[in-house]
Amino acid sequence: MKIDILSLFPEFFSPLLSWSIIGRACEENKVSINSINIREFSQNKHKKVDDYPFGGGRGMVMKPEPIFRAIKSVRDKNSRVIYLSPQGKKFNQELANELSKEEHLILLCGHYEGIDNRIIEHYIDEEISIGDFVLTGGEIPAMIIIDAIVRLLPGVLRSDESFTDESHYNGLLEYPQYTRPREFNGYSVPDILLSGNHGKIETWRKEESLKATLLKRPDLLKQKTLSEEELIILSKIKDNLQL
Ligand SMILES: C[S@@+](CC[C@H](N)C(=O)[O-])C[C@H]1O[C@@H](n2cnc3c(N)ncnc32)[C@H](O)[C@@H]1O
Repeated sequence: MKIDILSLFPEFFSPLLSWSIIGRACEENKVSINSINIREFSQNKHKKVDDYPFGGGRGMVMKPEPIFRAIKSVRDKNSRVIYLSPQGKKFNQELANELSKEEHLILLCGHYEGIDNRIIEHYIDEEISIGDFVLTGGEIPAMIIIDAIVRLLPGVLRSDESFTDESHYNGLLEYPQYTRPREFNGYSVPDILLSGNHGKIETWRKEESLKATLLKRPDLLKQKTLSEEELIILSKIKDNLQL
């Protein structure tokens, strides 16, 4: 997969691209990520990239020409061009899974009051939001999306690191995790996890995953089609909790 980030602050991305799992994925060529400075596509002698909004109002708007040229410089027939925007479709695990199958993503980061609307109307494929709040720029949303996608690419996580059990992957939250020591400040790890009985541990995890989802994010259960087994487990959990 190739990801091109178009931003006025490409240096923002250096830490993301050099550390931990994403850094390793770049180093091992599992993904190629480039951050491109939109300012380089300004033909203005002062490299101006923003201007006052037509109709008046506060703030500055990013001009269309440098963005258009920046997109054109990297776009090809397999590109999916995404504008990070608080007005976009809400990003979630399902969308991360979908985007991880693309060959080429172009992530356009806005700044100031945003970008000239003609770019949104004519030169991008979609707007994606990371939540119903407004940030100063699209750089952090782009990093969030990159992080969520790259860890799903084949071979990026090692065999001992898996995303299939993790929260949201199958529409549920993950079961609780514990590590050493067995006792910490008088609190113990559940006995079942020390039993060595893998079948029982598996069953416990399934129950705990459903319980965590029921207690913390019941809205997720409404969106998911549960198997018969899961429905039986869930009804037992509800009985035990007297819900
Ligand atoms: C201050 S915001 C502009 C907000 C715009 N004036 C509006 O009200 O819709 C500047 C830039 O930050 C990015 N941004 C802000 N909030 C975001 C969010 N929730 N998700 C994705 N990108 C966001 C966008 O790229 C946007 O162009």
